[in-house]
Amino acid sequence: MALPSGPHRGRPAGTHPHLQPLRRADVATFDVEPFTVDARRTWFEHYAETGPHRLLVAQVEGQVDGQVAGYATSGPFRLKPAYARTVETTVYLDPTATGRGVGSLHYGELLDLVTAEGMHRAYAGVALPNDASEALHRRLGFRDAGTFTDVGWKQDRWVEVRWYERALPWDTAARSGD
Ligand SMILES: CC(C)(COP(=O)(O)OP(=O)(O)OC[C@H]1O[C@@H](n2cnc3c(N)ncnc32)[C@H](O)[C@@H]1OP(=O)(O)O)[C@@H](O)C(=O)NCCC(=O)NCCS
Repeated sequence: MALPSGPHRGRPAGTHPHLQPLRRADVATFDVEPFTVDARRTWFEHYAETGPHRLLVAQVEGQVDGQVAGYATSGPFRLKPAYARTVETTVYLDPTATGRGVGSLHYGELLDLVTAEGMHRAYAGVALPNDASEALHRRLGFRDAGTFTDVGWKQDRWVEVRWYERALPWDTAARSGD
């Protein structure tokens, strides 16, 4: 069972050893090096305590204080002002926290929050293959909005990214399994 998340601005959770496996050798993230504390601090500065651009940290029962199970973020989709009601979202869990509903709960919480902030669309790019992420996005009401071919280069190969689009606000009653 996931505990309520909260904003953790300034907290270098991503340098925690339990989150470093997220920089693993697959292509789910386009980061290629582990985060240093300084780099993670800079990353945190992109997010605010209020408004649509947020960082939520997931914790699960039984974790020691300060340990995190993952995070979900919403940030600007593009910088031109006409995109102001659109966010790009993402979610990453520690491998020990996957496959038991934490992602659905945590990411759903972020979508509720950006909806309450008046956002109109959320977009998420899923580097392929990633069956779990595609299932998660579909479960939470995203639709396939098209695929960028060979848009990334990692592990000595080109990587394609499928974009998922979520209309906001949305019917929370349609969410199942929470
Ligand atoms: C993607 C991720 C956030 C999903 O979170 P999760 O807590 O594991 O997912 P949930 O348990 O809430 O399940 C959500 C859906 O994914 C499916 N799923 C979970 N793990 C799966 C797997 N390994 N393969 C296929 N489907 C899977 C579930 O069956 C469920 O689908 P359903 O609603 O059709 O039954 C998590 O696996 C993760 O952090 N992965 C590594 C990082 C990553 O890929 N992040 C996304 C970047 S775009």
